[in-house]
Amino acid sequence: MGRGKDMARVVRCGLVQVGSDIPMTEPIATIKAALNEKCSRLIGEAAAQGASILALPELFNTPYFARFTDARWYAAAEPIPDGPTITLMRELARRYAVVIVAPIYELDRNARYNAAAVIDADGSFLGVYRKHHVPTYHTGNYEQFYFHQPDLGFPVFETAYARLGIYICYDRHFPEVARIYGVKQAEIVFNPSATGGKHSERVWELEQQAYALNNGYFLGALNRVGRGQPYDVSEFFGKSYLCNPLGEIVAQGGRGTEEVVVADIDLDEIARSREIWHTNRLYLDRRPTTYVEMFVEANEATGAQPGARKGETAMVQTRREIRFKPIMTQEMKDAAVRALEDGKMIRSHLEKDSDGGRFEDEFCAYLGAKHGVAVTSGFAALHVALMAAGAGPGDEVITEPRTFISVGDVIVLVGATPVFVDVDPETLNIDVSQIEAAITPRTRAIMPVHNNGLTCDMDPIYELAHQHGLKVVVDSCQTIGSEYKGSRHATLGDIGAYSFIRNKSMTCGGEGGMVVTDDDELAYRSMMLANHGRGRDYRETHNSELIGFNYRLSEVLAAIGRVQLRHVDDWNHQRRTNTAVYQELVAQRELPIVFTSEPAWGLHTRMRCVTLVPRRDQLVEFLEAQGIQASPEYRVPIHLNRPYMEKFGFRRGQFPVSERVVNETLILPNWPPLTRPDLEYVVDAIDRFYRNG
Ligand SMILES: Cc1ncc(COP(=O)(O)O)c(C=O)c1O
Repeated sequence: MGRGKDMARVVRCGLVQVGSDIPMTEPIATIKAALNEKCSRLIGEAAAQGASILALPELFNTPYFARFTDARWYAAAEPIPDGPTITLMRELARRYAVVIVAPIYELDRNARYNAAAVIDADGSFLGVYRKHHVPTYHTGNYEQFYFHQPDLGFPVFETAYARLGIYICYDRHFPEVARIYGVKQAEIVFNPSATGGKHSERVWELEQQAYALNNGYFLGALNRVGRGQPYDVSEFFGKSYLCNPLGEIVAQGGRGTEEVVVADIDLDEIARSREIWHTNRLYLDRRPTTYVEMFVEANEATGAQPGARKGETAMVQTRREIRFKPIMTQEMKDAAVRALEDGKMIRSHLEKDSDGGRFEDEFCAYLGAKHGVAVTSGFAALHVALMAAGAGPGDEVITEPRTFISVGDVIVLVGATPVFVDVDPETLNIDVSQIEAAITPRTRAIMPVHNNGLTCDMDPIYELAHQHGLKVVVDSCQTIGSEYKGSRHATLGDIGAYSFIRNKSMTCGGEGGMVVTDDDELAYRSMMLANHGRGRDYRETHNSELIGFNYRLSEVLAAIGRVQLRHVDDWNHQRRTNTAVYQELVAQRELPIVFTSEPAWGLHTRMRCVTLVPRRDQLVEFLEAQGIQASPEYRVPIHLNRPYMEKFGFRRGQFPVSERVVNETLILPNWPPLTRPDLEYVVDAIDRFYRNG
């Protein structure tokens, strides 16, 4: 870490306090070159003193031109990161191995921003912060004349030495900004400013010392110096300072002096201060969403603030819409268009030289399996797999009832009888200990369903199948990427079925499926069943070998699936991470939410974050009103659907766990694009539901 001392968490920080002493009438390029040079020299000096993180004031290489309106200054804006100033700063960062926060006037296509580039200690560009609150257009503060309102929010930058947050100048008057960086665990927050005037000087220290204390981080406040001739309104007073997480100033610049304010800060003080000042407790106790309605009411009662429409306040904007939308990136769209333009659209004889053929091979390689047959849906995959495995009239197939109806339907459609075994209440997968009792001389296959991202306990199932000469036909529709005892392959059974419908781990274009097996014979039968029963020599004989279906996957969907397969592990990881965040938040608040378990044998992808909750249906309704899409899972177990009761005589009470949990299961939104604040929003809403009765 920092080069200031040898201790692991000590970082030497430098605040570069400068002003613009070049007459503003000089050409802009001359002014910028002179200020870049001055700041480069100060950066070099600070680095020589061992500083590791350096920040500069707002718009450091121009005068503070926003005191008047003059369109001439538009030409001072330049791109980040490829413009000359940030290129120079990146060179300095690399040369001195320092992190640099460089605030400049940014040009992004046709928009200009009051921004700060963040550069890591190897010179790499980490990103940009754009001033969020652009001051209203009035005397001495004409920023809206120069700067657009940005939409980048409040990113935290993971640098080589610390996690940084930034807000620029006027942003500091909005405590929500300071809080968000605490919530996001920033370690040092910089506030590059250009501020002058008596009132501002009093507020300068007062406000931000409290922020550091209330949010538990170090804070570096940077001001410029001098008067900025000839636009002489009031003097920029300097007094840049570094403040610790107890709100104490540890180093401060002079009034009006150009200098680098350097101090060593120990990042471990953050944890210590949080203990002393209970900052952690403050974070646990905060309840941001409860203020939303109050802000709406207050805003409507008092009239809208300048610049805001009625009912529109910073807090109101925190209302979120947490709704599922499948991921469809440009890369996927490009693949689809390519496949469309190729004109093939379907594989005439399931040939391998096609997107479908490559998708099969790539999917098999991903699983470590031998053969794949791409089909139109998970239903089609299951249907084909079960038929290929030989299940038909007179046979029984053992499965579970608390899952998707396709599972029962394919058994019935091949002419066999479904024999249900109840589920385990903790995993919500088949209760393996009950399978043996369900085996009869008519049993042809066991059909375990891997629900929600967790596989069934496969070894005892394989053993039973081996002992009784049964096929294991697996429903893997919900377990792309899941592992059993460290292996994806071990989840597959004799033959397995995957789904790519829009709510699955990957979604092709909304529908799709795959049959997967190592068995040459099962694979060949599956291939024929999916394509009108046509066998290897169909081109010569024009004769179908079997009565089959048209279950071919379109080339366009296969092309999209191929792209998605390269991302599915990342998405699975994100779903797991989201679930872990939920588990943490739910435990902190002691909410009555039970997550399905992850036994030692399984890598649970949390394709769905399924929980068991009291008063499920009221909670769903309440969350819906908050903009949160959280749905029950299966409301009726398969055996209690009317056709099953009528045809097979199933009745209520036969599978008590399944019948109970269908009234309790709730899927929490954990889709990959959701962020921690989204998840907090969901948990805040659940918290309100249970606490307010
Ligand atoms: C467990 C299970 N089996 C089968 C299916 C059927 O897949 P599809 O909807 O693609 O036909 C699904 C998904 O919907 C499923 O979740």
